[in-house]
Amino acid sequence: MRLSILRLCVAICVGFYIGSASASSEEDSNVSDRRAKFNYQMFCQGCHAADGVGHKSVPSLRDSMHQFMRFKEGRQFMVRVPGSANSVLSDAHLAEVLNWMVNEFSQHIVEKNWREYSTEEVQEYRQSPLLQTEKIRAQLVQRFSKK
Ligand code: HEC
Repeated sequence: MRLSILRLCVAICVGFYIGSASASSEEDSNVSDRRAKFNYQMFCQGCHAADGVGHKSVPSLRDSMHQFMRFKEGRQFMVRVPGSANSVLSDAHLAEVLNWMVNEFSQHIVEKNWREYSTEEVQEYRQSPLLQTEKIRAQLVQRFSKK
């Protein structure tokens, strides 16, 4: 009898523990989502527009970012463009906002398990910001549109 009460207590405690752990990780991802959206609005949206369509010389981010994410040079490019590399955002927050942008603007076509940017990856790539982007972009686009 005593043993089963003990078992019940353990089960309840473990249940609470698991419940609270998953609630807090959900909270974390909500916080990170809200912060990324806020940073996008503050530092990127002025040129890229609220829905990522850009305008004139600003290319649309919709339905294309995920294509660049598939290979190293494409991933580097997304970080090395001046708007990313020279932004005031920390490496961690830049990684966060770029990941948010891929999910937000390529939501319906991005692979479920695409590899998000890590802080370290962003830190490495942004060391060498690009001055000229058009030619490199055209070469990269050719690379993924051939397939
Ligand atoms: C002052 C305007 C401006 C701001 C602000 C800006 N960008 Fe950009 N962005 C551009 C332009 C223009 C391009 C096209 C490439 C180039 O000439 O830099 C671009 C290109 C990009 C690209 C590559 C898209 C593609 O398909 O080639 C990414 C990714 C990007 N920006 C991310 C960001 C992020 C992240 C921020 C905010 C932290 C940001 N940009 C802020 C103007 C801006």
